[in-house]
Amino acid sequence: MKVINVCGARPNFMKIAPLMRAYKDFNTIEPVLVHTGQHYDEKMSKLFFEELEIPRPDVNLEVGSGSHAQQTAEVMKRFEPLVLERNPDMVLVVGDVNSTIACALVAAKLGVAVTHVEAGLRSFDMAMPEEINRVLTDRISDLLFVSEPSGLVNLRSEGVDPAKVHFVGNVMIDTLQFNRAKADQTKILGQLGLSEKQYVVVTLHRPSNVDEPAAFGRILDALEQIQQDLPIVFPMHPRTRNNIQKMGFGARVEAMKQLRILEPIGYLEFLKLTAEAALVLTDSGGIQEETTILRTPCLTARENTERPVTIEQGTNQLVGTDSSKILEAYRKVRAAPPSNLAPPEKWDGQAARRIAKTLAEWQP
Ligand code: UD1
Repeated sequence: MKVINVCGARPNFMKIAPLMRAYKDFNTIEPVLVHTGQHYDEKMSKLFFEELEIPRPDVNLEVGSGSHAQQTAEVMKRFEPLVLERNPDMVLVVGDVNSTIACALVAAKLGVAVTHVEAGLRSFDMAMPEEINRVLTDRISDLLFVSEPSGLVNLRSEGVDPAKVHFVGNVMIDTLQFNRAKADQTKILGQLGLSEKQYVVVTLHRPSNVDEPAAFGRILDALEQIQQDLPIVFPMHPRTRNNIQKMGFGARVEAMKQLRILEPIGYLEFLKLTAEAALVLTDSGGIQEETTILRTPCLTARENTERPVTIEQGTNQLVGTDSSKILEAYRKVRAAPPSNLAPPEKWDGQAARRIAKTLAEWQP
């Protein structure tokens, strides 16, 4: 069975890596790897292929940045001829980025089976571009692989045929388990002069936080306070960096003596940083999951999450962008970090294997 596997943006790479590895044990599967080129900077893309040992993509569509419509349309225009030429039995997409919906839509319209890895997650917030991508991708998928129990509930309530749905666990955690020891060898703490549990990691890139000066300003208010207590490291997404300049926040950020802004960093160093942090403040989806397994307290600067298991069973809590709410949660977590945590079901490093096995046995 020929399967085109699509990845496009940074959070896709950790999800594709264990799948490409798992296929090797199933000789009926012939994988083709396509990179859409949605992310293209060396530090947002190439570095991850090297560190995660992802095979070189068979094809790179090199779409680059643009508005949502431009980017989605460009992926579709470049992906359609490839599907026609390669004639796959299936197109597999992961996550919720623009490349995910674009390639799923092309495949569905050409009558090629669509598989969605990380199906069923819902924030119920249609103002979030990823939520639109998730809902639409699931609607046109033939096989839906779910990472946490909420996904099963959501797909059932949307009327998706249960025969298409498989609860397999979390491929992101496969990657975490596979790379944990390697990450431990990195020297990032020493290089940054940090001590275990004596610093905070921050990541922010969501449009609702970093494209909105009011929200971004409130988060900076909180960071100003936090960095008086513990040093902060902030590996910065290009979108966030651009906005700091555009919104005139440069001087405020520079004035924070214990705030260290870094270029985007690789997977292994970031894993080490999050594993040893006192806590993480983020708006990323994947980091909510990783901190759950690492048992690092996580404050999520959002009003909702599509990954509720990270709150029920992990260290995650939603703090929004209100600076006093962020600071209150920060103080509570510092005084009493969460304990007695059990990992979510099937977050055991075997999700990609379960997916490959299901694909190998799949009959249209
Ligand atoms: C995308 C995903 C988001 C994911 C995030 C992880 C969508 C709708 N959003 O958001 O779900 O959490 O990736 O990073 O697909 N840029 C660069 N270099 C790059 C890539 C981007 O400089 O390699 C800059 C460009 O200015 C670009 C901007 O970042 O316009 C945004 O990139 P884009 O891919 O549109 O969305 P992300 O914010 O990265």
